Amino acid sequence: MLEVIPAICYVQPMITGWMGSRWHMVQDPVANKRIFLDNVDNYPKSEVMIRMVRPAVGDSLFTAEGADWRWQRRTVAPVFAQRNVNALAPFMTKTAERAASRLTPGSEHELVGEMLSATFDVICDVALSGRDHFDADVYGAAILRYFETVGKASILDFLQMPDWVPRPGALLGRGAVKTMHAMVSEAIEARRNDTGRSAEMDDLLDHMLKAEDPNSGRKMNAQDLLHNMQFFIVAGHETTALALGWALYLLASHPNLQEHARDQAKAVLGDRPATAEDLSRLPYVRQVLDEAMRLYPPVAFLARNAAEDDVLGGREVRRNEIVFLAIYALHRHEMWWDRPNEFDPGNFLDTAVKARHRYLHMPFGAGPRVCVGANFAMMQAQIILATLLARHRFELTDRAPPTPVMHMTLRPDPGVWLKIATE
Ligand code: HEM
Repeated sequence: MLEVIPAICYVQPMITGWMGSRWHMVQDPVANKRIFLDNVDNYPKSEVMIRMVRPAVGDSLFTAEGADWRWQRRTVAPVFAQRNVNALAPFMTKTAERAASRLTPGSEHELVGEMLSATFDVICDVALSGRDHFDADVYGAAILRYFETVGKASILDFLQMPDWVPRPGALLGRGAVKTMHAMVSEAIEARRNDTGRSAEMDDLLDHMLKAEDPNSGRKMNAQDLLHNMQFFIVAGHETTALALGWALYLLASHPNLQEHARDQAKAVLGDRPATAEDLSRLPYVRQVLDEAMRLYPPVAFLARNAAEDDVLGGREVRRNEIVFLAIYALHRHEMWWDRPNEFDPGNFLDTAVKARHRYLHMPFGAGPRVCVGANFAMMQAQIILATLLARHRFELTDRAPPTPVMHMTLRPDPGVWLKIATE
């Protein structure tokens, strides 16, 4: 899929092509701001992308548009307020400790798998009452099946096939969706009936059960909750694990930068795992993650539909045309970055960030539809990465380097194999 981004996208701000209808690929910060903020109502999400996830998440926050999206956003945004995310940090710290102790010095590990297991533990703990109450292996197998069927469909397939053609993946993935929905519904019901909980114990699921639209007082019904929780579980752990996997690969490839990150982590943490309170003293760990998501954005490609005629970057965009946002190309664009393909966490020093156009680094999207879970994701990624770096040194192996492959997310193929050094 990454090959659908033509080489010219890395040197030109916008390209236009034809594939059944006219489409545009935009990697220009000014045009991005128009699409994501200034004229956002003119650019609803394209069906091309949404079709892949709708079987699993219905018309939840991620997929909904218009008034249906607005009330859900007003309802869900406070759930992810920094105060609530801070309260979930102890779950992340516990998982980080477990992930660090699973790695054995002297042996090789596949780090994306390790990170998926860690971030899945966190989401199971905060959204599903933990692995003791929930068969995470059965659910994990269903997610994999879903990704390999519905989720693996390519954008090109969708563009070339008329809407009425049944997608084979959608049929194959149906069993997987049924399994996931049954398990999440059961977890929600069990919590709804658990009357013995106090407000101090509130986790993500409790907050979602209590959430209501501040404007109308409307609360989520069983289906709204199911679809939104389902999205949080799948999207929330996969994307974060990929960011961590790529960050570890990049650090292993740049031993001097890894030493700098490790020195900071060891100085702040010593032998203990990171907590939310440590993060302000670990700025370099955050820079490493931001830079890893520049080079390998977990969500590397977005698509919008022009509702009405508009002009982007001086070019006419007509009603119903598709506008692709090639985030991967934006982040490695020769016009916007000095050494676009080089790993340099210095790109995310405060001064460098302030000097740059906001719409040049968009791993979490932007504008009103920016990722609602971004602070949750960043907190979990920083806690896990800092804990791992304080405890271990990561080295490349003799295997071939991973290649980025884009399905719904940008995955390293065949994974990130690294050796854990013996000090
Ligand atoms: C590194 C981790 C993550 C990345 C890179 C990421 C990326 C993104 C991006 C690019 C969007 C915007 C999509 C668009 O505009 O078409 C988005 C939206 C969203 N994300 Fe994330 N995400 C991450 C983690 C999470 C987590 C942890 C959660 C929840 C637990 C989450 C929930 C959502 C939701 C609900 C939306 C839709 C928001 C709306 O449309 O109002 N994400 N994410």
